[in-house]
Amino acid sequence: MRKDYTGTIKSIKNIALNTYEMKITSELNEAHSGQFISILCPNKTLRRPFSISNFDAETKTLTVLFKLKGEGTQYLKSLNEGSKIKFLGPNGNRFSLENRNCLLVGAGIGIAPMLFLKKELSEREIKNYLISGFKEENEIIQGSDENVIGGSVLDNLENIIKEKKIDLIYACGPTIVLKKIAQIAADMKIKCYVAMERVMACSIGVCRGCVIRLHKGGEIVYGSVCQDGPVFKGSEVVWE
Ligand SMILES: Cc1cc2nc3c(=O)[nH]c(=O)nc-3n(C[C@H](O)[C@H](O)[C@H](O)COP(=O)(O)OP(=O)(O)OC[C@H]3O[C@@H](n4cnc5c(N)ncnc54)[C@H](O)[C@@H]3O)c2cc1C
Ligand code: FES
Repeated sequence: MRKDYTGTIKSIKNIALNTYEMKITSELNEAHSGQFISILCPNKTLRRPFSISNFDAETKTLTVLFKLKGEGTQYLKSLNEGSKIKFLGPNGNRFSLENRNCLLVGAGIGIAPMLFLKKELSEREIKNYLISGFKEENEIIQGSDENVIGGSVLDNLENIIKEKKIDLIYACGPTIVLKKIAQIAADMKIKCYVAMERVMACSIGVCRGCVIRLHKGGEIVYGSVCQDGPVFKGSEVVWE
């Protein structure tokens, strides 16, 4: 259930250039891939959203991967094992797990929810193939290093889809990359889900700060990334 939690940092470590893995234990007892938590950083008024990159129900431990951006993520970096952390979650919808030939695409830190999705699909014995793209070699994140594309995940995407007989794509990363993936999926008549990112204020569907335009039943409607998303069908997003 979504609520405010106080968690304890179980571990925090530098896993790639300017990128950290943080494990948090708390009373949160259920989370799914695609969902995110919004962390209160005392030096910032607005909570900062981060995808859940793993969740272990037995130990009630969730993992987030974060890339340093500004003061909020600098604060997170300053935390240590045992530090307390306040967060709201789990927020948003989740990836629909479908028994197809799945391609998971993580561009940059967009790999974070894909690692959790890969785990959920694999637990259900759903065939999946993960590709990730990082600008620099020292940005590559462990666990995503199976099929790293040096540079853009878009390079060679059509060939991979054909070769692996993919019929469902899940993607997360910068909007410009998601837009292109959604276009490729549409051209190749493949189903596609994208996990969108927007700067968020409330994270609970109230402020309308994170709305995007969606195609619904022949009309264009507004949907919030934090509440209606972050996962949308690639075909329903109005790509601006
Ligand atoms: C649903 C969701 C899931 C996310 N998951 C992750 C994740 O797993 N790992 C991760 O590292 N980051 C993730 N982000 C982005 C993360 O929330 C921001 O990087 C973080 O809030 C930056 O906080 P800051 O105080 O350090 O930087 P700020 O000082 O707030 O921002 C620094 C710069 O980054 C830009 N920025 C801030 N937030 C965003 C955003 N959401 N999208 C694009 N640009 C932004 C600002 O405009 C500014 O230019 C996610 C965002 C969303 C909406
Ligand atoms: S962040 Fe307020 S509605 Fe999404």
